[in-house]
Amino acid sequence: MDRNLALELLRVTEAGALAAAPLQGRGDKMGADGRAVEAIRSALASVDMKGTVVIGEGEKDQAPMLYFGEEIGNGLEPELDVAIDPIEGTSLTAAGLPGAISVIALAERGTMFTTHVHYMQKLVVGRRARGVIDLDMPVEWNLRRIAKAEGLPPQELTVVVLERSRNEDIVAQIRAVGARIKLITAGDVAGALEAALEMRLGIHCMMGSGGCTEGVLAACAIKTIGGDMQAKLLLRDDAERKVAVKEGHKPNKVLSIDDLCSGNNIFFAATGITSGELLKGVRYEDVYAYTQSMVLRSASGTMRIVDAYHPIEKLRAKGLLPEQVVARPGTR
Ligand code: FBP
Repeated sequence: MDRNLALELLRVTEAGALAAAPLQGRGDKMGADGRAVEAIRSALASVDMKGTVVIGEGEKDQAPMLYFGEEIGNGLEPELDVAIDPIEGTSLTAAGLPGAISVIALAERGTMFTTHVHYMQKLVVGRRARGVIDLDMPVEWNLRRIAKAEGLPPQELTVVVLERSRNEDIVAQIRAVGARIKLITAGDVAGALEAALEMRLGIHCMMGSGGCTEGVLAACAIKTIGGDMQAKLLLRDDAERKVAVKEGHKPNKVLSIDDLCSGNNIFFAATGITSGELLKGVRYEDVYAYTQSMVLRSASGTMRIVDAYHPIEKLRAKGLLPEQVVARPGTR
């Protein structure tokens, strides 16, 4: 696959973030999602690839979505699987809270896990704890093994958990070990990346359940940066169990990172919409809109953090910044 795809993807998530950003803090989830989807769809149309969305937000959000099975790109080789979330953290964007990103991952055709089940349990660690985790084992067992791999007492670990009632039991188990918890209200792709990049951000692990699309997106990124991840479908009722079985999944199977993405040629890009620990969000500075993105390419293992300045007038001409939004210098 052409290494230029990495830069093409960067343009795609930048467009998604720039389109969504004017609606930061305006309480309009659907509006922001719609703008990001439209911008991403249009940016993807010129990318050299025959991509198929194999896992996305489509049916979940009932938004003007990039849907499962949608063909994207200009139809030229290579043939690729695509995982995409135009806004990962729609509620964060609408509330003007930190941590929303626009995100996409590509891998060779037929290599990404796909499902219409909503949630999966996730366990993510950085590269030092690769190979020591087992989602079938208790929380304490995993934390002790992760701590040993990290060379820390278990109490010094920091674990990211999505704050949901379904994750309360895991929170209690982590507290019983005495580790720190960073609760996030949304955005567990960024949470997983923070855990996998433990040296950079001081987070050692992510536990608890979140969206399946987000799980596959995170797995693609984690595979390129060298951490580890396991997941298990969270089947809330018989209907979901039937969906999983019909899709050919074994309900209680622990999925390894390779089950989530078996590809060896993975591209991943994410751009900050609202500022978070992983990436800065969109800011309007004088005549420019500023974006910060992360681009990963598994073949080289390179992680690029890209700062970009986009002329505001050109964004207006492309419809990425509505006339009524007065761009003011941001506080960075
Ligand atoms: P969106 O892409 O819909 O904004 O998802 C945000 C998110 O918080 C994900 O990070 C997480 O995996 C998922 O929602 C959890 O779903 P739910 O909010 O239904 O528990």
